[in-house]
Amino acid sequence: MHFKMRMTGIDAYITHALHGLYSSRELQSLTLIICKDLLGLDEIDIRLRKDIKLSDSGQRLLEQTVDRLKRHEPVQYIRGTADFYGLVFHVEPGVLIPRPETEELTDLILKENSGRIRILDIGTGSGCIAVSLAKHLPAGRVDAWDVSPKALAVASRNAGELGVDVRFSLTDVFSAEPGKDKYDVMVSNPPYIREKEKEAMDRNVLDWEPELALFVPDDDPLRFYRRIAQLGTDMLVPGGKLYFEINRAYGTEIVELLNMSGYKGVRLRKDLFGNNRIVTAIR
Ligand SMILES: C[S@@+](CC[C@H](N)C(=O)[O-])C[C@H]1O[C@@H](n2cnc3c(N)ncnc32)[C@H](O)[C@@H]1O
Repeated sequence: MHFKMRMTGIDAYITHALHGLYSSRELQSLTLIICKDLLGLDEIDIRLRKDIKLSDSGQRLLEQTVDRLKRHEPVQYIRGTADFYGLVFHVEPGVLIPRPETEELTDLILKENSGRIRILDIGTGSGCIAVSLAKHLPAGRVDAWDVSPKALAVASRNAGELGVDVRFSLTDVFSAEPGKDKYDVMVSNPPYIREKEKEAMDRNVLDWEPELALFVPDDDPLRFYRRIAQLGTDMLVPGGKLYFEINRAYGTEIVELLNMSGYKGVRLRKDLFGNNRIVTAIR
């Protein structure tokens, strides 16, 4: 495209270039993100479809963005940010993009806990859970583990930019030893997709998001839950709570695992789409 594009032209260019790759609803939302967040155009002008001429650099950016979207790169990586629980998190390849289900998990913790509580987030990724909890529980203390140095670098950046203090640690949950720190809440959204589920997954996830954050072996899909439940029996104070995001296929098994590990009040909860998504338990 070597002519100067007008607003209606931008719209048409995006729709034409990405036709068949994204639904019309996705195209509408992508167009808004490209125009507003990447090209810096005024949202009212976009919605009124005003005539807007792009500069040469704007035009180049538009073309590069469309090329990246053609390769199924998630728009959050292109934009460099993802919205989570009313906050804006930096994200980049190598770090999982926070999901809406995880906002529900965060919200549940905030509804059920307050004050000077100590929290440990295992597998923190972008830091979305840990940082959001720290932001909303200023009297609390939040620690967070991840085995990925990349994730921890991004999470620390997010904590700094969002003005909260979280103690991050490069820790593999399978080799971690319970130390002297005790917690009122342990939370985890661990990897929980079985390798065999890959076939049904979208390319924007499979080609771009980190395998380390997503997959567990088909023959041991509950390995993170078993390990964290075991650590929790030492690391949670009596009456302390465990919060898990889960694969909806394994609700009953995880409830059973926690009952067998001696937890009380084990509950399986649904997400907004009606899928089994969260399990909670009390030590
Ligand atoms: C599903 S992602 C969740 C990220 C973030 N908490 C969220 O909800 O968006 C799982 C995270 O667990 C981390 N992880 C994978 N294996 C781990 C291990 N053995 N010990 C600690 N963290 C691990 C991954 O690096 C990834 O950041």
